Amino acid sequence: MSNDPLLQPYRLKHLTLRNRILITSHEPAYPEDGMPKDRYRAYHVERAKAGVALTMTAGSASVSRDSPPVFNNVLVWKDEVVGWMKKLADECHDHGAAVMIQLTHLGRRTRWDKGDWLPVVAPSHEREAAHRAFPKRMEEWDIARIVGDFADAAERMKAAGLDGIELEAYGHLLEQFWSPLTNDLEAPWGGSLENRLRFTFEVLGAIRKRVGPDFIVGVRYTGDQDLTGGMGAAEGLEVSRRLKESGLIDFLNVVKGHIDTDPGLTDLIPIQGMRSAPHLDFAGEIRAATGFPTFHAARIPDVATARHAIASGKLDMVGMTRAHLADPHLVRKIVEGREDDIRPCVGANYCLDRIYQGGMALCLHNPSSGREIEQPHEIAPAPVKKRITVVGAGPAGLEAARVAGSRGHAVTVFEAASEAGGQVRLTARQERRREMMSIVGWRLDQCEKLGVKFHFNSFADAEAVLATEPDAVIVATGGLPHTEVLEEGNDLVCSAWDILSGDVKPAASALVFDDAGDHAGLQAADLIAATGAAVEIVTPDRSFAPEVMAMNLVPYMRSLQARDATFTVTWRLKSVRREGNRLRAVLGSDYGPVLRDRLVDQVVVNHGTRPLDDLYFELKPLSTNLGEVDYDALATGGSQGRLVNPEGRFRLYRIGDAVAARNTHAAIYDALRLVRDL
Ligand SMILES: Cc1cc2nc3c(=O)[nH]c(=O)nc-3n(C[C@H](O)[C@H](O)[C@H](O)COP(=O)(O)O)c2cc1C
Ligand code: SF4
Repeated sequence: MSNDPLLQPYRLKHLTLRNRILITSHEPAYPEDGMPKDRYRAYHVERAKAGVALTMTAGSASVSRDSPPVFNNVLVWKDEVVGWMKKLADECHDHGAAVMIQLTHLGRRTRWDKGDWLPVVAPSHEREAAHRAFPKRMEEWDIARIVGDFADAAERMKAAGLDGIELEAYGHLLEQFWSPLTNDLEAPWGGSLENRLRFTFEVLGAIRKRVGPDFIVGVRYTGDQDLTGGMGAAEGLEVSRRLKESGLIDFLNVVKGHIDTDPGLTDLIPIQGMRSAPHLDFAGEIRAATGFPTFHAARIPDVATARHAIASGKLDMVGMTRAHLADPHLVRKIVEGREDDIRPCVGANYCLDRIYQGGMALCLHNPSSGREIEQPHEIAPAPVKKRITVVGAGPAGLEAARVAGSRGHAVTVFEAASEAGGQVRLTARQERRREMMSIVGWRLDQCEKLGVKFHFNSFADAEAVLATEPDAVIVATGGLPHTEVLEEGNDLVCSAWDILSGDVKPAASALVFDDAGDHAGLQAADLIAATGAAVEIVTPDRSFAPEVMAMNLVPYMRSLQARDATFTVTWRLKSVRREGNRLRAVLGSDYGPVLRDRLVDQVVVNHGTRPLDDLYFELKPLSTNLGEVDYDALATGGSQGRLVNPEGRFRLYRIGDAVAARNTHAAIYDALRLVRDL
């Protein structure tokens, strides 16, 4: 047996967990009608098969009607959930993984205009900044009703054959009772710590009565809200002790911080550019002080840090949650001594940011996660070996090469630049986003193992492509910034890319016209402001950077608000004129015939890219499919059968920004689903 600390079994009550790695609860927003159906099950089963010890399903699964999900959560207040959870648990158990679920009442952390339009409840009228609802202050009958709802939900989960449950306290109703900031009820529910904890112990007591002493029950909570006037570390430790001493629970799952604002949430669940494992020592202190089974997750993305967390005795079980979104086979790869093959989580937080925008959790660079059924993680070998030529080594081209190589094809890649990476390489030039390069680095490593041949500094024309005698050609040539959006003065502006690449140096004052609203505009502004320059970010939209989602915005704001940066929304850059050695920028509005102007040293335009597609159009008449894609087959994971030009010599596909400006996920997803069929 391996002596890797991560691979040692762990006994939790009567349950033996096969190793020390857990997936903490994270609602990927895959339910259909509030139920964890086939997509949901496939997601967890994939990870169970690959060896994770415990998967804590759902995330904030709702125990009551008046806790309507703000994103798409599992509704455990419905009886029909039992059948679905049983199927999921049975299948995961068949593969040796333990299965639990996180239950909650969201309290004020939701909205009254969701679900059944019931009032949002909390132990005070204090509103949560993130979800904005002004809550009703709870009455005795609310308390009794919700205690009963928790017990009913726990009983359903026991009936479904789960190994246990965890209650989500932090930021949700349980903690809203704990914290003096959100509880102004009279005794016996408010006031002293004992009173503030009373609701939690009522809930736990009711659950125990219903599920008996053997069913595993834990609590996920913050040991320190890190908020002025809130529950601090000393009180948090006292809460930890009382939870343990209650004899009602079996494990603690500790976090640190608060989630009522985007910056708070981002400190609790850190993203790229932030410190790894920032709360690990804190969790270790709680374990040391309580001597109780302790779980913890917060940006422990790599195996070495996870191993340290266990070997040093800071944790009993280490959460690697986004790491499993990025690579579901993480544990198998550790067991097989293939840690180098693990697809790294780069902390891009596309997954988590998406659910807050109503989407489902998707990994920026693993499009199979959440799509296990139609886009399996494993790439099947091709029955017939072919020659595949890929043009462009950005994320789309590299994924195409990796997938083609995994099929067993002979793959040649041409790249005009001296290095791979395309736009990702530009993005990653900023220190805070350096980890993005692992999207490129992991693919290059995989390609090397698969024998893919790269030609850098090679601007491939049709002749060079044809000389490879390809069976299929993938054009992944990307795009170039498009800045010609002005009535006058297009020649006086530079692009956000010019700033990111360092080709244009920041001037003393700059206007960044961000019409695309994606990372490039903010990143350029951030780089300019970092030099001490004054920057005004102007957008015609209602809010700035609408494509940069909530948690991703946090590091930008922290950086920009500390510098000379301002934001102007609902104004559109019309024209730029030279005025002496400066630039006069004229702003107009979509709302009416009004004009403003600015005198600056530099104008930067971020308006997305236009495809670099000459090669594609040159090759098109020579291809068997004339570049056509069968969208029905593409969307459902079917085969591309188009043969519209029998005279053609190869199949031809264009992917990523060579088609139209999109994002890294779209580019990689294009590549995966087209090339896995070749
Ligand atoms: C898509 C997504 C949804 C999440 N939803 C929940 C949730 O409902 N409840 C919860 O306690 N944590 C939730 N989390 C937080 C994770 O459980 C975990 O604490 C966090 O991702 C940090 O661990 P990691 O760095 O290993 O990913 C979510 C995380 C993700 C990525
Ligand atoms: S989207 Fe980013 S943070 Fe989320 S799993 Fe993928 S790489 Fe990790």
